[in-house]
Amino acid sequence: MSGSTQPGSSAHPALQRLQARLEAQSGRPLPEAFGPAGTEARDLFSAALRGMHLTAEVYASHCALALLLDLGLEARLREGASLEGLMTGFAAQGRLPLAWMLDLLVDEEMLLKEGEAYRLQGPAEPQLEALRAFAETVAPGQGINLDLLDAVRRQIPPFFTEGKPGEPLLFSLALLPLWQAYFHNDNAVYRPNNLLPILALEHARKPGMRILELGGGAGSFARLLGQRWGAEGRLGDVAEYRFTDVAPNFLRKAQRELPAELPGLHFTFQPFDLNRAPADQKVGEARFDAILGVNVLHVAKDLGATLGHLMGLLAPGGRLIVGECLKPDLDHPIYIEFLFNYLHAFTDVELNPDWRPRHGFLTPECWVAALEAAGFTDVQEFPPTRQLMDHFPGFNVGAFSAMA
Ligand SMILES: C[S@@+](CC[C@H](N)C(=O)[O-])C[C@H]1O[C@@H](n2cnc3c(N)ncnc32)[C@H](O)[C@@H]1O
Repeated sequence: MSGSTQPGSSAHPALQRLQARLEAQSGRPLPEAFGPAGTEARDLFSAALRGMHLTAEVYASHCALALLLDLGLEARLREGASLEGLMTGFAAQGRLPLAWMLDLLVDEEMLLKEGEAYRLQGPAEPQLEALRAFAETVAPGQGINLDLLDAVRRQIPPFFTEGKPGEPLLFSLALLPLWQAYFHNDNAVYRPNNLLPILALEHARKPGMRILELGGGAGSFARLLGQRWGAEGRLGDVAEYRFTDVAPNFLRKAQRELPAELPGLHFTFQPFDLNRAPADQKVGEARFDAILGVNVLHVAKDLGATLGHLMGLLAPGGRLIVGECLKPDLDHPIYIEFLFNYLHAFTDVELNPDWRPRHGFLTPECWVAALEAAGFTDVQEFPPTRQLMDHFPGFNVGAFSAMA
């Protein structure tokens, strides 16, 4: 089947199932479903994008199977083995990502769960090439998320076999270009992560506003905002754009590049760790009208404390805008977790039974509850995600705007 892009009855069952899922979500969400995010958000979630997410979901399960085979687990899986049995010989840190992969493979009907035992059914033949070819027909040239899934599978075995930490394995020089291409506005899969918070921010825009960005990283959010507001001649609305990150290398690169690229935006730069109290970090006395965090707040060790600190940095009526990857259901894996489950900052966080029962990505309901528990009011969703993700399972990102 490898290489075929029109799965028919002879296609691998994974491709047939994928085709059926694509057909089941082939309609287009109504414009009203996007609430305040409007038609621009609707245009972002094209059929190609939704198809790519669904394909990546299946692709991740085949990467996970390939990784389990790379780790020498085929015989144990054929016999049927518990998580404990499969962990034999591996570093303890492997338990969480291994359990996650097993759950994903059960969801995708590639493993059977019999009591505590996981059993491999069918041939152990990951269909990576065929799924790649399929993805290319769904969303041509947009396979960077698949490239990253492959790279993580390739790099991560020593995390299990030698107990090496995930950070240096995944953020090595070899993978840097892939991460840069992924966290980029030209990546249609990632662009909504930046555009939805910008749409939220535009609802709170006012002349003279001061903005603080958390975990600005490679600067894709600041660039999109700068380009967009620059084209509208509205960069002057921003009295200060304070770009922050905990990582000195990101901060230095941003400081070198962003003011030159966007001379009309009044940038300032400072290191800021969202796990430390602002009072210890020289933030100054002035309050911000908006604080933005795109794909960063899920690493807050104590999310309640961080949200409380951020509230203290906002002017009265100011807004915290959180852009996050979202899960429809905390009990089932989503593919993007395959990229992050090896990072301590992602997994080692304090839980809360009401709004953070698990590490990592949360449901939209959890985010609204976390923001309200921290004392924020008027929490708006750009777009209101629950209904969209129930109808379109490939829908996995949203922005929340909460008033201090
Ligand atoms: C997934 S990246 C997102 C980067 C950027 N917002 C984007 O979407 O392109 C996460 C960013 O959060 C930063 N970060 C991680 N832990 C942090 C912390 N404790 N405080 C502040 N920033 C942090 C990382 O250095 C990285 O730049």
